[in-house]
Amino acid sequence: MTAVREHFGSRLGFILAAAGSAVGIGNLVAFPVAATKSGGGAFLLVYALFVFLICLPVMMAELALGRRSDKDPVGAYRQLSNGSHLWRIPGWLALITPFMIAVFYLVVTVWVLGYLIETVTGNLNLLATQDFFIHFINTPKVFIYLVVLMLIINAILAMGVKDGIERAAKTLMPMLFVMLLGLVIFVLTLDNAILGVKYYLVPDFSKIDGNVVSKAMAQAFFSLSLGMGIMITYGSYMKKRDSIPGSSRAVAITDTMVAFTAGLLILPSIFHFNPQIDPSELSESSAGMIFLFLPKIFLALQDSIGYAGASAVAAIFFFLVLVAAITSLVSIIEVPIATLRDERDMERKTAIYWVAGVQFVLAIACAVSFGMVNWFTEFVQLAGVNKSFFDLVEIIFYDTILPLNGLLVCLFVIYKWKKANFDKELQEGDSAFAGSFSQKYVNFSLGTFIPLILLLIFINTVALKFF
Ligand code: PHE
Repeated sequence: MTAVREHFGSRLGFILAAAGSAVGIGNLVAFPVAATKSGGGAFLLVYALFVFLICLPVMMAELALGRRSDKDPVGAYRQLSNGSHLWRIPGWLALITPFMIAVFYLVVTVWVLGYLIETVTGNLNLLATQDFFIHFINTPKVFIYLVVLMLIINAILAMGVKDGIERAAKTLMPMLFVMLLGLVIFVLTLDNAILGVKYYLVPDFSKIDGNVVSKAMAQAFFSLSLGMGIMITYGSYMKKRDSIPGSSRAVAITDTMVAFTAGLLILPSIFHFNPQIDPSELSESSAGMIFLFLPKIFLALQDSIGYAGASAVAAIFFFLVLVAAITSLVSIIEVPIATLRDERDMERKTAIYWVAGVQFVLAIACAVSFGMVNWFTEFVQLAGVNKSFFDLVEIIFYDTILPLNGLLVCLFVIYKWKKANFDKELQEGDSAFAGSFSQKYVNFSLGTFIPLILLLIFINTVALKFF
């Protein structure tokens, strides 16, 4: 076995690292976009219910699996299932999923880094032009930025759990909160900002339908970094004396607050740009929002604060997104590293070289999926539509396997590892949890309706995306 397992140094360190994982592009952009299109305050309400009633118990389950076994996801499932062969499958899925999600998330983060560099070098006006994005993602610059980004992330990972992951989170997360608040305060002083706030907060329940509900659920699940083996791995670095329920709550609250606050940034900006706008008509995707629409909004600020001022605001925004994405990538890439260390007895550095090497090649395949290489651009046909390699990775791992992994975690914890063992782990470091209403709720929900909801999402996605 590898030497003594590293642990997070403090409870706050763990919470910031896990919140660093949870707060990502999903919170800063995908959440406001979804809220905009799906009834504002009504979406917020549905989302918050999902976070606290459905995702929070799953997070506790993942953390408990990791902490009890002291292992990566593959090892955790093996150990706690007493060597059952069937239950190895979710372990492997909880390894492959983060590995592949990291690949496509790396590529999106590379674009964010590129936009930051273009902004800082005075090119905000170019970013705001119609075809810049598609042109930019097909320039060889993306390969250079990919190398830079991977160097940063792997340098953090190479320093280990406490001196790398935890320390980075302790520096970067407070910085992220300050930048986000600063931007929100600035945006709220702009003309017509209040229209955006109103649009964001006044609930329109007529927009809530089955699709919106399932979108809110998927968004909450992804946002809390569930189904990706991350919380299992981070759980294995948690100290026994720390409370799993308490820490999970802190992470969920932080993550949700950031998502909520990001909406206060995006919507008022949109209404300042155009008070007549109907934001529900805006582009569906977060990529469309970050790379096509927001640069235009930032550039328009030059009328009030000049070109340099507008560029500064844009640069802070892209930097904010970059920081959020880096702390998420660190957590997700730690999963395969932990597996190689635990299962193959590898040194941390050796594991990093292996993971980074394979991810680099796959990330290139994703990066050239937008026209550079035809074979990757038209990789497969799904439901009669051509999909690129990038799309395929996203559809398989993010859309489909993620809810499946969540479902398997619930079933495993309650029916294979067993409630009594799970309860014991949750009570460790939190004696007040024993016999509480929360405990009863967590046990009941994880064994009944949570897996059912995840199953419905899984079936719905398969039907929608593959047939
Ligand atoms: N929670 C992240 C987000 O909202 C999702 C994520 C986690 C993505 C880890 C990649 C790695 O963006």
